Amino acid sequence: MSDATDRDALKRQAAEAAVKLVTDGMIVGLGTGSTAAFAVEALAVRHRQGLRFMGIPTSEHTGAQAKAAGIPLTTFAEHPQIDLTIDGADEVERGTLNLIKGLGGALLREKIVAAASRRLAIIVDGAKLVDRLGSKAPVPVEVITFGLEVTKARLEALGSVAKLRLTATGEPFVTDSGNRILDCGFGQISDPARLEKRIGRIVGVVESGLFIGRADPVFIADASGVHRLDSPHGHHGARRSSSSWASPARARPPSPSSWRGGWAGPSRRATPCIPRPMSPRCMPAFL
Ligand code: 5RP
Repeated sequence: MSDATDRDALKRQAAEAAVKLVTDGMIVGLGTGSTAAFAVEALAVRHRQGLRFMGIPTSEHTGAQAKAAGIPLTTFAEHPQIDLTIDGADEVERGTLNLIKGLGGALLREKIVAAASRRLAIIVDGAKLVDRLGSKAPVPVEVITFGLEVTKARLEALGSVAKLRLTATGEPFVTDSGNRILDCGFGQISDPARLEKRIGRIVGVVESGLFIGRADPVFIADASGVHRLDSPHGHHGARRSSSSWASPARARPPSPSSWRGGWAGPSRRATPCIPRPMSPRCMPAFL
């Protein structure tokens, strides 16, 4: 088997582990990228087996894949609260579970979907696990086209080498929202949370691919199996929405059964999701 085939097998294993978290009646955020595509495939199988859920895609590409596979889709207008999002990542930092995302170009919608999700399950193969963010991947930053040169200079003033992302044919890559991406190489990032804030303050920046305190859990597949890393403090992404299933017009579907992480499920959440700092200790578990 080639390296690529081996890696695809690992991606599929991580995706299938995460898809087990989906229970009847959930609204599911559908990530973008080659690993997330395996999750969409696995979700389509579960849908054909009778599981009821609806998806909100993080890109046009994923939306098309999900539609073709028969997964029912919905919108934020109908369902502003997502129960669980399953997405890939470019780097996962050991201990903090902070992420770099966006090498697939969908970071803006991915962050919007993550922020509207009670939980963000991340699926990766072992090569994505790093001690420090920035070790292998640049930080993708989505920017407005107007004034791009000025925005680029501001990003470089933060200590990066910023490169305009190009397509295979050498044209500027255009995101689903019509913006451009600057891939910013910072090297190893000592304080990703601070960097995310500093990037976010630059006029012309729409969003960065730094995902801080949002992932929980992370499924990592390597040669020894699929490992699950849980954040002991939950994540920062979700804000409880009183509107999601609260209105009679959007009556909640049958209560899903709880799952192994101790989460009570979308209808029986015991504690509100309040932003808290994450513990540096994330407990690995062998599945
Ligand atoms: C897209 C993303 C992807 O999730 C990330 O690039 C990982 O992709 P892949 O699973 O193909 O390695 O953030 O914007």
